[in-house]
Amino acid sequence: MMHKKTITFLVFLFAVFSAQAIIRIEDGKGGVAYVMSSPDNKIEVTAGNLPDGKAYYQVTKNANKIIAPSALGVSIVSKEPELGENVEIIDAKVATFDETWEQVWGEERFVRNHYNELTVKFRQKTGKQRLFNVIFRVFNDGIGFRYEFPEQPNMDYFIIDDEKTEFHIAGNPKAWWIPSHAENSFGESLYRKTSFDKIDVTAATPLTVEMSDSKLEGYGTHLAIHEANLTDYASMTLINTKENTLKCELVPWANGLKVYARTPFVSPWRMVIIADNAGELLTSHLELNLNEPCKIENTSWIKPMKYVGIWWGMHINKYTWQMGEKHGGTTENTMRYMDFAAKNGFGGVLVEGWNYGWESLEHDGNFMNFTRPFDDFDLEKICKYGQAKGVNFIGHHETYGAVLNYERQMAEGYELLQKNGVHAVKSGYVKDKFDKVEWHDGQYGVRHYRRALEEAAKHQIMLDVHEPIKQTGIRRTLPNLMAQEGARGQEFNAWDNGGGNPPSHTCTLPFTRILAGPMDYTPGVFNFDIPHPKARVQSTLANQLALYVVLYSPIQMACDLPENYEKNPKPFQFIRDVVTDWDTTVVLNAAIGEYVTIVRKDRNSENWYIGSITNEQPRSFKIKLDFLTAGEKYVAQIYADGKNADYKTNPTDIIIKEIKVNSKTVLDLKLAAAGGQAIRIVKK
Ligand code: NOJ
Repeated sequence: MMHKKTITFLVFLFAVFSAQAIIRIEDGKGGVAYVMSSPDNKIEVTAGNLPDGKAYYQVTKNANKIIAPSALGVSIVSKEPELGENVEIIDAKVATFDETWEQVWGEERFVRNHYNELTVKFRQKTGKQRLFNVIFRVFNDGIGFRYEFPEQPNMDYFIIDDEKTEFHIAGNPKAWWIPSHAENSFGESLYRKTSFDKIDVTAATPLTVEMSDSKLEGYGTHLAIHEANLTDYASMTLINTKENTLKCELVPWANGLKVYARTPFVSPWRMVIIADNAGELLTSHLELNLNEPCKIENTSWIKPMKYVGIWWGMHINKYTWQMGEKHGGTTENTMRYMDFAAKNGFGGVLVEGWNYGWESLEHDGNFMNFTRPFDDFDLEKICKYGQAKGVNFIGHHETYGAVLNYERQMAEGYELLQKNGVHAVKSGYVKDKFDKVEWHDGQYGVRHYRRALEEAAKHQIMLDVHEPIKQTGIRRTLPNLMAQEGARGQEFNAWDNGGGNPPSHTCTLPFTRILAGPMDYTPGVFNFDIPHPKARVQSTLANQLALYVVLYSPIQMACDLPENYEKNPKPFQFIRDVVTDWDTTVVLNAAIGEYVTIVRKDRNSENWYIGSITNEQPRSFKIKLDFLTAGEKYVAQIYADGKNADYKTNPTDIIIKEIKVNSKTVLDLKLAAAGGQAIRIVKK
């Protein structure tokens, strides 16, 4: 224990709804700390300064150490010591908050936002005596904290050149992580599973941890370290500095500096989900609760949907993005896709390669034109044709990271689509460096993504961002941010020389990348005959169906060619039926990278959907349907791996059957290697 805990005085304050105690601890050597607990009293945060003046915090759950004493502070460009180095506490205050809010769309309709808050006010002991506060929010499912730089005489404009925040995790636990910039800065790496001390390069967040108390895989304390509400700051990556300690490493501007700011100013929230098992990570709403409420008044145009697109055809070389013989995005082909979409209940048709710029073949976004359709793409005709059938054209804006070029045209580009009744755009940023010099995830890029999202909202456009800035819960404030990529998606299975995504990948995504927010993975491959010499879809057909439930997104693509669905109407029925907006989500079993079974209730009916997937290991599960309403009758439509299903040689062997079920039924699920099971439970 760092402090000799002598509670010198206790003051009780009455905050909004209930009494909160300010607990102050002095160690007798100059160290002062304050303590705040979660509403259920299980999680406890202690924050203050050490006798040598360094600011720190620590976290326990059920009195077990989660985060050992870890540094707080930022360094600003100045000749004086950094903020957090030689500080005293001038004040502290507490509050409590409890509300339940409704999501515009989501995995869960109603979200409880219940926390206790502690603000610790620090002052530099010497020099300009600058002030900064650290605000902690302690929830039952984890903690968040952020730096606040109030208006003050000696601090107006300032530049952050380093953030000192540390996460000193107790023990040497297991972690699932990807490098933040080593292979690709958009998160398109395979997750590593290593002990904490083997994190050897800067890692991206969310970074997921299984603490050493886990006796059985998937059970025991799990953490996810991430950030929330990244709005005008640099992204936080994590670097292993010393024994089990990850330090915040902000992504720099091209000049090496990190954040330009002016008081009053706040940083994003640093957050740690603290769950009792792997499944609980998925049902935490910590990130959303650390964001601001919805700012869009009329959200009637924001609609979850399933979509198809002229897209997979390009990735398997059937079509080209450019005009020519194999051009995918022609008027005729788009209308054919729209017919297919209308017939099968899809809300949109994505078309890539509809606009001038693609033909330059230079892959330089400065050539991209977002208001000039290709000559063989009649935008107006296509949009009218689709609308008459209830299908929206989904525009594609590939910027190739030429952000200045995009920002010049963005408003007009959205305007053109809005004029044609379009409500969705997939944007793309295929280039690590924006405008050739700035990281996409530095403050420069963060500002751009936000600007694009706000501009899109003005034109009633929903965004699906590929090569995005990581999600940090902004979807709560601007729910036109539907989904993002930001990880290896299905497209790797079309052209990856490394053989495509291994089966463990989709079993890892829900506990890592998707903790940050919905992912546009684009499931639904039906034709496993991939023309690439090395790339493969390493899953069974039943697994592809289960991904619609397992990999959360309010927009889900059916990625394969319409002709491949038309040839397989029976399994396709699941994609036709599955919904993308949920009332409730329950995780039935989970072990990261191994398997996961999720059940979700449709927001607009009494139907439930189960998705279960496994990695290379075949598995059997017994699933209790006790989430169904007792006394009611249901029919389960089951899409299971066939007896001879084999993801390498026979992925399409599938059993489709219907059985009567109720809340007392226990289902036996049998999953082949890299297999899965998708179930629709319909109330009768
Ligand atoms: C990468 C995106 O992830 C993919 O979906 C898109 O087709 C290409 N870029 C071209 O923009």
